Amino acid sequence: MSKTIIALDFPSGEMALKFLDQFTSPIYVKMGMELVYAEGFELIDEIKSRGHQIFLDLKLHDIPNTVKNGMKSLARKNVDIVNLHASGGIEMMRQAMQGLKEGSNGTRPLCIAITQLTSTSKEVMNNEILIDGEVEDVVIQYAKNAKEAGLDGVVCSVHEAKKIHEACGDDFLTVTPGIRLASDSADDQSRIATPNLAKDQGCDYIVVGRSITKSENPVETFEYIENIMRG
Ligand code: C5P
Repeated sequence: MSKTIIALDFPSGEMALKFLDQFTSPIYVKMGMELVYAEGFELIDEIKSRGHQIFLDLKLHDIPNTVKNGMKSLARKNVDIVNLHASGGIEMMRQAMQGLKEGSNGTRPLCIAITQLTSTSKEVMNNEILIDGEVEDVVIQYAKNAKEAGLDGVVCSVHEAKKIHEACGDDFLTVTPGIRLASDSADDQSRIATPNLAKDQGCDYIVVGRSITKSENPVETFEYIENIMRG
């Protein structure tokens, strides 16, 4: 299965499925709030029936009991990865894992924590969110918290992946958005990197949205990126 997860950031299921029609082999896709809020969970079954794997990116963040029960429901949705915000704390993450275990019959989805969004710069983190220090230090502490809570990995930027593997072990997953080809614009992302750097830094998966979905030939661009990741 691919190491490049394509973010299906489309406003409708019809557009997402039309995009997927171009791919003849199964790939890994990410369904986020835009698509799920528009289409509901039924679209998951349609995408799974085509053989694709799904990272359901709903970024849960609430009191521990609510997140636990939310995860219990998500565990039955036949997806491969779910996620939450590490800023909800260790107990919230522990309860999330408990919910996933209780909700799944057999294999549970992997659960990964958002550390700091790749759109968040040091200035925003320091001056608006009022967390002092370097983004990297916060990201690594959040990764350690996620590991302590029993999660499978984190979402982080490419720039933090190596240090997270050093701190949390090589089998602790690093899933990295904020990927741009050298020729792309940054859009709203802040801590960006190329697929080559992601490969060098040992990222387990990269999440790529606009660089693939808005490219002239999405399948070719996907294959180009995937070949880099496979090294
Ligand atoms: O188009 P682009 O490649 O920037 O899309 C990145 C995707 O990854 C978006 O769906 C965004 O929600 C998601 N994401 C992110 N940063 C995080 C977590 C998720 O960009 N920290």
